[in-house]
Amino acid sequence: MPGTTRSDYTRLNLPRARDDRPCVLVNMVTSLDGKAVIEGTERGLGSAADARLMQELRSNVDMVLNGAGTLRASGSSSRVDDADLLALRAERGTPGSPLAAVLSGSGDLPLERPFFTSAAFDAVVYLTERTPQKRVEAIAATGRRVVMLEAGDEVRSMLRHMRRELAVGVLLVEGGPRLNGELFELGAVDELFLTLSPLVVGGHHLPTAVEGARAPALDTVTRLEPLSAVPNPETGELYLRYRVSGRGALMR
Ligand SMILES: NC(=O)c1ccc[n+]([C@@H]2O[C@H](COP(=O)([O-])OP(=O)(O)OC[C@H]3O[C@@H](n4cnc5c(N)ncnc54)[C@H](OP(=O)(O)O)[C@@H]3O)[C@@H](O)[C@H]2O)c1
Repeated sequence: MPGTTRSDYTRLNLPRARDDRPCVLVNMVTSLDGKAVIEGTERGLGSAADARLMQELRSNVDMVLNGAGTLRASGSSSRVDDADLLALRAERGTPGSPLAAVLSGSGDLPLERPFFTSAAFDAVVYLTERTPQKRVEAIAATGRRVVMLEAGDEVRSMLRHMRRELAVGVLLVEGGPRLNGELFELGAVDELFLTLSPLVVGGHHLPTAVEGARAPALDTVTRLEPLSAVPNPETGELYLRYRVSGRGALMR
């Protein structure tokens, strides 16, 4: 594993996008006992240094996606604030903040949140055939672009739309756990960026970074190889970067 002395996610060498989906990065922070939520949100799990790394990650991508659960719990944004990171994006030919996106079936979304009101980034709302028409209309009235997905194959068709209709080359998924679970189940994740926070949270039933309806089985696990592991002595955090290498093959 290559050793680095400082974490720097501004210049990532990433896998290429495919024809039917972007290169997909998942970024999460958890406690040492694997919990991704405390008191209802992720707030308090990551430090300011971790938030800075999230901004650095955003500097590489065309779009930032959240599940609707995360938008409801903590808000969603693709905003890049830092002048140096914005300059880097401009240099790469992708000026401004990346596009933001959210996926929802219910359409039960907080329309007063910056995801819908901010002029700092543009956003796309992916809804499905089961979204009530009244909610579709209310969401469209915010001015954000609405894309309707076929029920049953939502995640795959959303990724295809991102790639083919919006020319998204790199997608950053910032949670939450249920959306992450669907992406891993589909084999649609290329890299996982995981910040381990020096905390033990404890408790029952708190979500981990990847949740799902499917009962896990040995032949469906995802295997990843480490690309970097960088401790931050000031915050006690450990910044991990992994690349997906296959499915089903367990280490013995
Ligand atoms: N630790 C971290 O780094 C981190 C990061 C992000 C979030 N979080 C935390 O995670 C929690 C939220 O996570 P979550 O797992 O409950 O929610 P989530 O994954 O953010 O969103 C789940 C929701 O996404 C929509 N969705 C997912 N798959 C869909 C599909 N195939 N078709 C249509 N809609 C689909 C559904 O929205 P509808 O219900 O609207 O249909 C579903 O309820 C929050 O507490 C948040 O603070 C932690």
